[in-house]
Amino acid sequence: MKKNERVNFGGMLTAILASAGSAVGLGNVWRFPYETGNHGGAAFIFIYILFIVILGLPIMLSEFIIGRKTHANLAGAYRQLAKDSKWRFVGHIGVFTGFLILSYYAVVAGWTLEYIVEAGMNQFAGKETADYIGAFKLFSEDPIRPLIWLALFLFLTHFVIVKGVKSGIERSSKVLMPLLFVLIIVLIGCSLSLPGSAEGVKFLFQPDFSVVDSSVLLAAMGQAFFSLSLGMGCLCTYASYFRNDTNLAKAAVSVAFIDTLIAIMAGLIIFPAAFSVGIQPDSGPSLLFITLPNVFQQAFSGMPILSYSFSILFYLLMAIAALTSTISLHEVVTAYLHEEFHLERRVAARWMTGACLFVGVFASLSLGVAKEYTLFGLSFFELLDFFTAKLMLPLLGFLVALFTGWYLDKAIMWREISNNGTLKVRFFRLYIFILKFIAPIAILCIFLNELHLFG
Ligand code: TRP
Repeated sequence: MKKNERVNFGGMLTAILASAGSAVGLGNVWRFPYETGNHGGAAFIFIYILFIVILGLPIMLSEFIIGRKTHANLAGAYRQLAKDSKWRFVGHIGVFTGFLILSYYAVVAGWTLEYIVEAGMNQFAGKETADYIGAFKLFSEDPIRPLIWLALFLFLTHFVIVKGVKSGIERSSKVLMPLLFVLIIVLIGCSLSLPGSAEGVKFLFQPDFSVVDSSVLLAAMGQAFFSLSLGMGCLCTYASYFRNDTNLAKAAVSVAFIDTLIAIMAGLIIFPAAFSVGIQPDSGPSLLFITLPNVFQQAFSGMPILSYSFSILFYLLMAIAALTSTISLHEVVTAYLHEEFHLERRVAARWMTGACLFVGVFASLSLGVAKEYTLFGLSFFELLDFFTAKLMLPLLGFLVALFTGWYLDKAIMWREISNNGTLKVRFFRLYIFILKFIAPIAILCIFLNELHLFG
């Protein structure tokens, strides 16, 4: 496909909303709370925010530059910028990582569909915490139901992808993101009104740095990459649809800000409620699904119509937030297959959907009937999550930082950031310094630290 045949996003606002649509998803509302809970609360959040600023922002800007400069899919982008060099493998590895992430992400996205239906059938009414825990276990370990939802979710994603970038991605982001935001604020109010919720707020904001060990650093770094959709090139591919007058730095700051805000707000829904009803903050991946039904039931007790409608609405918005993220993951691979292998977009998308369904089935079953099959003590689902979020994304981020910090011509980067000199850019030298030294060294140290090489 030639450059000028590609479609573009409408403008600055759509560029931000589409990227934020990719970034905001289950990573914020599902993964962030349970990683925070697993790693001791406020100290984790503190380090997470630090990583968003020193790693997330600069690497996001770099991905934007690579994408918009080349207007190509991930592999094509690296090929254009680094002809005949080994750098182009970064693109291929990124595409492969995206495929793995979508395969297990879609499993959890499928769970949100189940919960929409359960909410719709009023199944949360009149139950206790233990019932929600039991119901989630029963559902997630069922050999059939989660697979149906997984397939359905992948088909939904497929449908939007086939409809194309502009109508599909753009339109869905514009209305739904603001709606999600409003609902989250309402739910924070509910959660904070529960008795004993102050404990949860403390857990979120009063750091205890004595709990920080190497696993906390790795988890916070992985979460920063995961939540910002960074490393594997989602935002790079989206930036390839940006217009040339889009202010990349501003877009990056806005996306990182929105994403972090929503994650912390999700924490403000989950933890006060979890502490109030006695759910352990380190319950892991089930945390969101066992805590929220409590919020709806307790906060609106006496107003069943409210708890009924809010619970449906919440899971619906969750599913949609997940959808805007799965679309971005799918798009990376579809654009790659389409442009690199000259498959029709429709056919490319079909391959991707089929492959994700295949791997996703195993990921889903590994939480139930195939639970005993583990490697390093992790189920296949957990293994996919660990391998992609804690290994591949930081590694790819490391490579993106080195690529833009050392290899790529600084004049190209300057032109992209300043839109050919029309914008004033004061932070350029600091930005390059972070890419060259701070980000790579930080990522490397965290990896080495995890291997306990520092004693
Ligand atoms: N960031 C998304 C979320 O928070 C998930 C996601 C989309 C993602 N694209 C990605 C994660 C690329 C890692 C890499 O839900």
